[in-house]
Amino acid sequence: MENVRIPLVKGVVSRQARTGWPEGTVEDEHGREGFAGNYSMLYRRRPPTQWTRIEGPSRPRAMDMDALAAPDADDPDATPTLLLENEDVGIYVSRRRAAMPYYFRNVDGDEVHFVQHGEGRLETEYGDLSYEAGDYLVLPRGTTYRFHPASADSYIVIVESRTGEVALPDRGLLGHFVPFDAALFEHPEPSSTPLPDDQDEWEVRIKRGDVLTSFFYDACPMDVVGWVGTLCPLKINVRTFRGIHSERTHLPPSAYATFRGPGYWIVTFTPKPLETAADAVRPPGYHRNVDYDEVIFSHSGRLVSRSETTGPLLTLHPAGVHHGPHPRAFELTRDVERMDAYVINIDTHRALRPAPAFDAAEQQDYWEQWKTPLTAAPLAGHRGSQT
Ligand SMILES: [Fe+2]
Repeated sequence: MENVRIPLVKGVVSRQARTGWPEGTVEDEHGREGFAGNYSMLYRRRPPTQWTRIEGPSRPRAMDMDALAAPDADDPDATPTLLLENEDVGIYVSRRRAAMPYYFRNVDGDEVHFVQHGEGRLETEYGDLSYEAGDYLVLPRGTTYRFHPASADSYIVIVESRTGEVALPDRGLLGHFVPFDAALFEHPEPSSTPLPDDQDEWEVRIKRGDVLTSFFYDACPMDVVGWVGTLCPLKINVRTFRGIHSERTHLPPSAYATFRGPGYWIVTFTPKPLETAADAVRPPGYHRNVDYDEVIFSHSGRLVSRSETTGPLLTLHPAGVHHGPHPRAFELTRDVERMDAYVINIDTHRALRPAPAFDAAEQQDYWEQWKTPLTAAPLAGHRGSQT
């Protein structure tokens, strides 16, 4: 058949990936290009995550998001805190509680802000956008802006797209309207209110090559009265998303892709009913994402692959290092009907380097959590649906 590369089948396998794991085995995906390229499913006798020791830096890592010290929480003049970076992407956190006393213009990259907690007003030269928890705010490279938080629990995760523009993924045969309709993006309107004149001096702080330069004006520089074009800040909330799902099999993260840029993807897992087929495996399988480092954190709720005790962790699974369900995940998902969680996933082609702030908030024993045996067989089994 044209364009179909028939897989080779060797030994004891399931003929339908992600379902019907042969008794006494777990499925381990060895694939290229995330979950879209050449692959083989390996059927193993033991989870490949049951390591006893790791020597060296390429290991599963996790950071307690609540423990992260972000200087801009208490110092309005501070800038966001770097967590992880590579040549293509910088990942930062802002916990700002008071308005920025300066305007900011990032010339090092587009910015995608995800509002984990909090609400307020984003002032830009294109006009204002209000924001709340669950919003993605996209700021094109070089946009002048400042944040005016209106809540004490502000927590924003920022992805800096360093080598090219933020874009929407190609949705291919899925069409234009899932997992969300791009018509839902909100845009700022030019402000019609008088400019503030309560300051003697106005600062615009430009970041170029990770170095800051300040320009000062004797009037508020946000004096745009109109704009026309194809470039502007955008806002969309994850609650508007309509992710697809299958009753009979687990879909890969690419089905939930939200944004992409050179060297990275941003994915939003949204609430869904869990699979009901008797041979379905509800948590995602084991894999070693050989082309991507994976960063993941929960916005609300719990990912089905994690244990019930997981706190507000931001995790880093380096490319090539196995990961997969927590040993209790098969048991914990057996008698629930839905995954009511919003989870943010950032995948990067190049290796991410943790910054000191990540190291300082690290949960040191995270790599150990898969050591214990599984507490239930992987298949949903007793659920009664026909295969
Ligand atoms: Fe993964």
